[in-house]
Amino acid sequence: MPMLPIAIFASGKGSNAEKIISYFRHHPQIRVSLIVSNKSDAGVVDIANREKVPVLILKKERFHRGDAYVPELIAAGIQFLVLAGFLWKIPAVLIRAYPEKIINIHPALLPKYGGKGMYGHHVHEAVIANQETESGITIHVVDELYDHGRILFQQRCPVQPEDTPATLAVKITELEHRYFPEQIEKTVLLQNPR
Ligand code: GRF
Repeated sequence: MPMLPIAIFASGKGSNAEKIISYFRHHPQIRVSLIVSNKSDAGVVDIANREKVPVLILKKERFHRGDAYVPELIAAGIQFLVLAGFLWKIPAVLIRAYPEKIINIHPALLPKYGGKGMYGHHVHEAVIANQETESGITIHVVDELYDHGRILFQQRCPVQPEDTPATLAVKITELEHRYFPEQIEKTVLLQNPR
């Protein structure tokens, strides 16, 4: 069976990246072949080094107004991109190189609480401020707008009156770690039937 190398794009701690790397460690087809980040000091880079996964650090100018590093991704044989806390918008040249092959996880029930600036604690603060009774995660295809592409998966969790943005973040992170790896596997294998 042909190998299916995937790249994870992340800007932060990388807890999702860590779970994804572990999930695919012994997978017969899919493997995490590259960690891509815009921050050389991000926690995800430490995780990549520890897991011996190659790292590509992006420069803003080339990513947004150049070739978006498509040549490097193609040269590395990358077949699929996973955004796990990547804060830059994906440029059209990269979306065209990987049509329907870039997915993102968002820590809320899109289409609500999405869009520019809605990431991390900002999302949970808005959900709590609006006294929502539930929140959750959304995994979606990436298109040229923030948090906008076709929704692939959602999982809900209750928001209790005593919840704070911090306690909600813990519940959401648990959902992400539980569901994102298997949804990646499902999506990649659906596109590459054996
Ligand atoms: C997660 O909350 C995810 O939903 C969002 O960015 C965060 C990544 O967290 N897209 P981590 O760096 O994987 O811990």
